[in-house]
Amino acid sequence: MCGIVGYSGPSNSVGPIIEGLSRLEYRGYDSAGICLKINDELQIIKKEGKLDNLKELIQELKPFSHTGIGHTRWATHGGVSTDNAHPHGNDTFAVVHNGIIENAGALKKELMSEGLQFKSQTDSEVFLVLLTKFFKQSGKTLESISKAFQALTGNSAFVIIEKASDKLYCVKRSAPLVVGENSSTREAYVSSDPFALVGFAPKIYFPQDGVICESSVTNSDVQIKFYELDLTLSHRYKTQANAMTVDATTKGPYKHFMLKEIHEQSALVDKLAAYYIKDDGRKILESLKDFKPKGWHLTACGTAWHAGLVIKNFLEANNRQNASIDIASEFRYKNPILNQGEVGLFISQSGETADTLACQELCKDNGIPSYSIVNVEGSTLFRNSDKNFLIHAGVEIGVASTKAFTLQALTGYFMSRAMEGTLDNPELFTEVQLLSHRIGELCDSSDTLKDVAEKVYTKKGFIFTGRGKYFPIALEGALKLKEIAYVHAEGYAAGELKHGPIALIEENMVNIAIVGPELLEKTISNVEEVKARRGIIIIVGPTNHAEIEALADAYIPLNFEGLPNLSPLYVNVALQFLAYHIARLKGTDIDKPRNLAKSVTVE
Ligand code: M6R
Repeated sequence: MCGIVGYSGPSNSVGPIIEGLSRLEYRGYDSAGICLKINDELQIIKKEGKLDNLKELIQELKPFSHTGIGHTRWATHGGVSTDNAHPHGNDTFAVVHNGIIENAGALKKELMSEGLQFKSQTDSEVFLVLLTKFFKQSGKTLESISKAFQALTGNSAFVIIEKASDKLYCVKRSAPLVVGENSSTREAYVSSDPFALVGFAPKIYFPQDGVICESSVTNSDVQIKFYELDLTLSHRYKTQANAMTVDATTKGPYKHFMLKEIHEQSALVDKLAAYYIKDDGRKILESLKDFKPKGWHLTACGTAWHAGLVIKNFLEANNRQNASIDIASEFRYKNPILNQGEVGLFISQSGETADTLACQELCKDNGIPSYSIVNVEGSTLFRNSDKNFLIHAGVEIGVASTKAFTLQALTGYFMSRAMEGTLDNPELFTEVQLLSHRIGELCDSSDTLKDVAEKVYTKKGFIFTGRGKYFPIALEGALKLKEIAYVHAEGYAAGELKHGPIALIEENMVNIAIVGPELLEKTISNVEEVKARRGIIIIVGPTNHAEIEALADAYIPLNFEGLPNLSPLYVNVALQFLAYHIARLKGTDIDKPRNLAKSVTVE
């Protein structure tokens, strides 16, 4: 949830730390701070609110330091305030933290009874106080980090700097953390995401849980050492070149990352098709040929859960296989029935969503193999899965997920076709090409969706409806709108409206009705029911259908022809644009909606 960046090297650490934090700000933006080692002192500069507030302070102070750590926060323990902002420090150490210390309350009580003091309400400071206490006893940094870390429960990543050296230390448990190295410029980095280090650190290390990393920069090289918690040398880490390019970190000609990411979808659909049908991805897909597990357990959160609903439809309708889908935070506590011969399928853009990871662990503990549909290669989900089906979306920065949904659902479709053994049927490639083409057309004509947005953006609430394959899209359309436009929106199965939610309908309520060619008459009847109660009707329906158009206050015509399987993905893009334009008219912070964070690494 929080963004972490650390630097040690010959340059001023402020530049790469602030640039890295800017890239990670989408992960949490309640406060931001840095700690710099200046003249052998640890100096903390932090500020409540978005990173811009911190940047202003830094502009004034113009600090210079060769070693520092920075953090953008998504508040968990302790309210949004400058005191609770990270880093937390004293005259020996400064720390930044991502995650939750579950036994923080008990530890804090114990430490306070020993006379130790706290400056914030955060759980993170408990680690700092413990670390300092152990250091006062032994004078040994690594040993103190290990002892303090072992005293904690819960999933966390910590980065630590000390007054006594220019070293960067870090350690984690089930939270993302990478170490970066640039040997030619003699620079060491730490971050919660390799994305922050693009253009800075060509080599990335992925330490495993419970491995302490110590990075130091000498006059001749960068030394990165890994230790187990008993302080023997560790080999439990992987290395990888950082393949991302700096382009990924900018908005290009677009006003928002969300808009850029919506526009990227057409090309990404083509790219994914080439990857899975013709190129490197073909091998992993073919391993599914004739695969018939006893059943699939799909779990995910938010938008990824909606993509899972689409995939469940593919598995059931096309493959006639049993597939259950659960919201990850429910699945993990429902004591699910898990039988040998079944498979867990975990869907996640980040691959770091705590609830989804917990479901994966649960399946593993019960001997159920785990497959993932994931964007971030090298993420925890990726590393812990038996098979990974990458979606190759590139970095998704908009907190509201767009391209990840399309590519998750499409990957699920390719998996379904691979099981059928129909990857080479020409109609598959044609349909995917058509999807890409139609998304492109939507991008070219998105101003018409702006006109629709103008008609309704001041209205009280929105009910998205759809039947069958469009029901998940109604849910996703509503989620997108509520998260970026801060307006009440719900997704409903169109036929379910009359069982309750229709009570909400009046002249200030909008029904965004998806009317696809399937179950068309029945869905129209549902629209009539809303119209009869004076609801405002926006229909996303087939082109050249005067009868349906006449029903609507605004009509979004889509060409469903030739997309028997993939039309839900196409409709969804129209709803992404609609949500975007409504949010723009409302003037919200589209890329960083309030209270949200990109990657939810806490329960
Ligand atoms: O990284 P993940 O795909 O696991 O994230 C899951 C959800 O947190 C995410 O989709 C969230 O719902 C987005 N804000 C939706 O736009």
